[in-house]
Amino acid sequence: MKPLIAPSILAADFAQLGNEVEAVLEAGADLIHFDVMDNHYVPNLSFGPVVLDSLKARFPQTEFDVHLMVKPVESMIDAFLHSGASYISIHPEATNHVHAALKRIRDGGAKAGIVLNPSTSLSVLEELHGNFDLVLIMSVNPGFGGQKFIPETHRKLEKARAILDSLGSSARLAVDGGVSLENIRDAWRAGADFFVAGSSIFSCNNYKTVIDKMRSELS
Ligand code: DX5
Ligand code: ZN
Repeated sequence: MKPLIAPSILAADFAQLGNEVEAVLEAGADLIHFDVMDNHYVPNLSFGPVVLDSLKARFPQTEFDVHLMVKPVESMIDAFLHSGASYISIHPEATNHVHAALKRIRDGGAKAGIVLNPSTSLSVLEELHGNFDLVLIMSVNPGFGGQKFIPETHRKLEKARAILDSLGSSARLAVDGGVSLENIRDAWRAGADFFVAGSSIFSCNNYKTVIDKMRSELS
């Protein structure tokens, strides 16, 4: 599967958000990672569906990968389906009804993702097999951009890849948090095929240079 690079706009300059999205798309981003934080599930607040409405109006063909760090999830799933999200991912800790929430996402026409925190077991993948299109492994604790990649994540990615292969799953395996030129190759070798990167892209002057370099690590 072609590896995907998804810049996280949490690290963008919000004073010119549309231009930032345009710049990373022109620089070769495959899709845009959209981190939604509620100051409840995580101790931070970011942006919501009206921001996606505006971005979709300007970039109607672009796929947005919505990462919900909110609790409860159900009403936000509905809102982001309405806003045109391509992927919607949820944390199993954020709802009492994970299976039903994944079904709600798919029934609404989006791809369903399950997000595992550093301390969350991979066992949920077997239980939920057949109900998700994306597994997103957190390589930091969710809530903030610009954190350091947790090295044990490589082992978790290997285990997740082995479980997905043993299940015959075609789900994407994503990694999110502290992804940079220093660790993207190891994450790819461990089995990831979808890379979320915020500060390592937006902190550079030339987005194309860093995205090109990332892609060259993935072959
Ligand atoms: C963390 C978010 C990540 C984060 C990635 O809660 O889910 O998507 O914004 O940003 P960096 O790459 O800066 O860790
Ligand atoms: Zn994220």
